[in-house]
Amino acid sequence: MAQQFADPVGFSTRGSRWWRDAVIYQVYLRSFADGDGDGVGDLLGVRGRLRYLAELGVDALWLTPFYRSPMADGGYDVADYRAVDPGFGTLGDAESLIQDAHRHGLKVILDIVPNHTSDRHPWFEKAVDAGPGSPERDRYIFRPGRGELPPNDWESVFGGPAWTRLADGEWYLHLFAPEQPDLNWENPEVHAEFEDIMRFWLDRGVDGFRIDVAHGMVKAPGLPDAGHTGQISMLGNAELPYFDQDGVHDIHRSWRRVLDAYGGIGVAEAWAPNAERLARYVRPDELHQAFNFHYLQAGWSAAELRRVIDESLAAAGSVGAPTTWVLSNHDVQRHVTRYGGGWLGARRARAAAMLMLALPGSAYVYQGEELGLPEVTDLPAEYLLDPQWGNGRGREGCRVPIPWAYTEPPFGFSPPGGGESWLPVPAEWRNLTVDVQLRDSRSMLCLYREALRIRAGHPALGDGELRWLDAPEGVLMFEREPGLVCAVNVGDEPVRLDVPGTLLLSSERMKDGKLGPDAAAWWATVSA
Ligand code: GLC
Repeated sequence: MAQQFADPVGFSTRGSRWWRDAVIYQVYLRSFADGDGDGVGDLLGVRGRLRYLAELGVDALWLTPFYRSPMADGGYDVADYRAVDPGFGTLGDAESLIQDAHRHGLKVILDIVPNHTSDRHPWFEKAVDAGPGSPERDRYIFRPGRGELPPNDWESVFGGPAWTRLADGEWYLHLFAPEQPDLNWENPEVHAEFEDIMRFWLDRGVDGFRIDVAHGMVKAPGLPDAGHTGQISMLGNAELPYFDQDGVHDIHRSWRRVLDAYGGIGVAEAWAPNAERLARYVRPDELHQAFNFHYLQAGWSAAELRRVIDESLAAAGSVGAPTTWVLSNHDVQRHVTRYGGGWLGARRARAAAMLMLALPGSAYVYQGEELGLPEVTDLPAEYLLDPQWGNGRGREGCRVPIPWAYTEPPFGFSPPGGGESWLPVPAEWRNLTVDVQLRDSRSMLCLYREALRIRAGHPALGDGELRWLDAPEGVLMFEREPGLVCAVNVGDEPVRLDVPGTLLLSSERMKDGKLGPDAAAWWATVSA
């Protein structure tokens, strides 16, 4: 059935605007594949799995940071932006990975962390040594306190005050862990350094950057108090004096010029109070994409999903940008669990994948979601080291290593005879390994592969428009031109849908022509 749309080139990777409908696979490096047997994922491990990713049918990889780092925040605390951490490999490995990925038809997006460095970055070490008032301190945000109190009431995303005091009495700002001092983006040296870092990697062939905390670099003038506690619960919902300040867009504009010189793309990890504010990051002279966290946060309800989809499309469309769709990443609870866990969560996740891949724009797949992995909620206490525990919830549960093969943990994550994996893999995952799922045409993995294969070949999918169709309550149904209808039954009763056309794919077997609860289907229709 799907073959009638076969497109040998692959619609979504063709042309210079490939990113407008790319499916981008997030590799959380520490947990994807361990090539050298030390129990931690690495670049060698990714190189060995490129075929898997090409066969899955994604267009690009986003690699989480592999730079030299003391790993206070899993590599988001960078000590040298031009070096590979020895635990992840060498610069040569990074170069080989970029080349191999390209040979497999996969683009490569690196993670760049411009809001803060590691406290072991030479700049910060020099700033500490040089003392108050020095040009070295001006690369960061140092201030005197208010008596014994920090300079203002800002709170760290990881809990506690966003300021740490040095022995000489000055305080430095860190919106994340104390090991992640914020850079001062009013200092021209900081601008020059990051443009140079981008060129360093673009010269090595990368296709773009995911920009960490893209909403964070600029702070409100005078660093005014936020005025209340519990600031982190406001993230992405309300205004804060240290996030989503207008001045941040000048930085994105200057990066766009660098990116354009290479044909690279920029993806904003930006938390903004609403879809309009988020769309500002993807204006024509700024970044190419922004993660759509409002979609990720939507509950499993037809009305809520429809509202977020409409708002997202309208806001991105108003600036001519594509929308992105994200269900999971390395910072949030995995969506199988968010959607109710167990068979229910998995069933909804199947439907959610088909919905996401039918919507206009670009989609992100977080490693392991194609296997239907749930959040691991019972990791032993000795493994819970994430700095975000300071704020009540750690993120290890969504970062457990990928189960590839065999019947015992760590399921082929490390080569035979390798060490223990850095986080233990649950024994129950023996039924979720890639090997097991490839042998079962009804598995989550086969559903993703089939949906991605159809998406790549079907002219209606990817970039474009969506038209909502009338549907029974609890059902989302829309048409993509030419000739594709997607329906998702978010309700709890089976529904009969009279779609004139041929069924291409469904997340559950349809019975008596009815779409079951928590299920989705795609039909090829004949346009009038
Ligand atoms: C981003 C990353 C997260 C990290 C934080 C600080 O939100 O996704 O993992 O902890 O930035 O760099």
